[in-house]
Amino acid sequence: MVDERYGGGEAQPVGGAHEVPPYARLYDQAFHVDPDAAYERLRAGGRVAWVEIEPGVRAVLVLDYDLILVISRDASDTWTRRTSRWSAWSAGLVRPDSETAAMVAQRPNMLFAEGPEHRRLRAPVDTALRRIDMRELQARVEQAAMDLIDRCAEHGRAELVGEYAVVLPLMAMSWLFGLDEMERWRLPDIMRRIWDADGDAARAADDLARLMDSTVRRHSRGHASGPLTTGLLASSDTLRHEEIVATLVLTVGAGSQPAANLIANTVYEIVTDPQVRDDLRTSALRVPDVVHHVLWARPPIAHYPPLVARRDTVVDGVTIPRGTLVLLGLGPAGHRIHQAHGRPLHNRAYPAFGVGEHRCPADRHALAIAQTAVTTLLRELPDLRLAVPADQVTWRASPFARALYRLDVEFTPRSPSFPVSHPAQKGGPGWQQPQPFGNSRPAPTSTAPSPRGSGAWARLFGSRSRGTSRRGR
Ligand code: HEM
Ligand code: HEM
Repeated sequence: MVDERYGGGEAQPVGGAHEVPPYARLYDQAFHVDPDAAYERLRAGGRVAWVEIEPGVRAVLVLDYDLILVISRDASDTWTRRTSRWSAWSAGLVRPDSETAAMVAQRPNMLFAEGPEHRRLRAPVDTALRRIDMRELQARVEQAAMDLIDRCAEHGRAELVGEYAVVLPLMAMSWLFGLDEMERWRLPDIMRRIWDADGDAARAADDLARLMDSTVRRHSRGHASGPLTTGLLASSDTLRHEEIVATLVLTVGAGSQPAANLIANTVYEIVTDPQVRDDLRTSALRVPDVVHHVLWARPPIAHYPPLVARRDTVVDGVTIPRGTLVLLGLGPAGHRIHQAHGRPLHNRAYPAFGVGEHRCPADRHALAIAQTAVTTLLRELPDLRLAVPADQVTWRASPFARALYRLDVEFTPRSPSFPVSHPAQKGGPGWQQPQPFGNSRPAPTSTAPSPRGSGAWARLFGSRSRGTSRRGR
């Protein structure tokens, strides 16, 4: 029987049995040179297309916004969030240490839960996030941003992904979670080990779970007061200790890279598009408008979340067998609408935060972090420009994300606004300079921020009196 919601049509041979064309290899650097062109070619076959997310590992990518809405609403009938049903696991196709395994393997958290179970896990997060004082979040991020900028201001150049964009969201998370000084110091290093996937990712994931466990325990004893953890503990009648820990682990994975990439992608747009730059100069555009525009045109999460077909289904003539992985193409879906309008879109109707019941619960927080990060950067370093030719800027060959490896910029050097506290002055034995982040190949002039003892972290967690006074200069 043909399901009209999915366009029906004559069933074609199963795409998975064929080689996918080179432009459909999402893991390939060539795809990331011009994904928009690849999306157009993929669309020639309809609203869904077979793609490869690791060598020899296939999935179906959904390219259309309306179809993403239909699929999201129909999740329990034709599709499931329970990714353990993906047939590639049992076929042994997915490398356990791949980005695909980390981002798709089913875990006991809300992202992979459905119906009442999803609502039970999610409601406390919604409540806790709603109670967060957004002005305080913004003020703290702004102060931390100014300190990070001070660290590179004298050099006249910086690598903004590792030294700024990745660090700020992690700092914001540390405050939301209520990490103590030692935990704050460890978090960036653990996340670097997870994201770099340098063979140590599994151990780093254990370290992350242990760190969140100790944080929750300190909160339970009343020894800490991070607003998110405190809010989750207030729901301890519905959430068990392990579920609160799993929620914090999910949140740091779900929040940090996307927010970092939104910051970096927005700065990239500003330094590479003269029209955007001019419009900002003449106030025809404001930074928040550019952030919204990037969420339409170049969203950080391009192919996510993952679903699995519960039964054989035909969409626009493409046969999707039971057990197939289906990725929602938030990137291509938004890009298409953006293209159709032929001008920058500043409204918030983009699918970049997902749709339906699983839509990102922290969209306002993510926007506040990214908008504050970019606004502060441009205010403090107004003549920021790209330090390398635009065609040398490389994008991470991620099957899920639109993420820069690094973003080298230069600007007129200036002396720091605040005396920078150097780790050497404060750090005692055991002080360790974390490596710069990456997505990352370290920059030759890297001035990687030092969480422990650094002014940025002190300002984030300490009094909020400085920094905001400089707003609007
Ligand atoms: C620019 C930054 C961000 C973007 C683009 C983004 C986008 C997304 C997307 C696409 C999803 C998946 C939606 C789905 O499964 O259908 C998601 C889920 C989620 N995000 Fe975000 N996110 C961002 C930042 C954050 C931050 C800062 C936090 C936490 C403070 C956060 C917490 C979560 C959580 C907990 C989920 C799981 C929700 C669920 O399954 O019900 N995200 N986000
Ligand atoms: C710009 C978007 C994103 C990028 C670049 C990104 C990148 C990564 C990478 C590289 C890893 C580690 C892979 C490995 O171990 O080999 C990872 C792990 C993970 N990601 Fe993402 N991710 C993004 C968005 C998201 C979203 C939206 C969610 C959830 C809603 C999420 C949840 C996770 C989780 C839970 C882990 C595993 C953490 C652990 O090992 O405990 N990520 N991500």
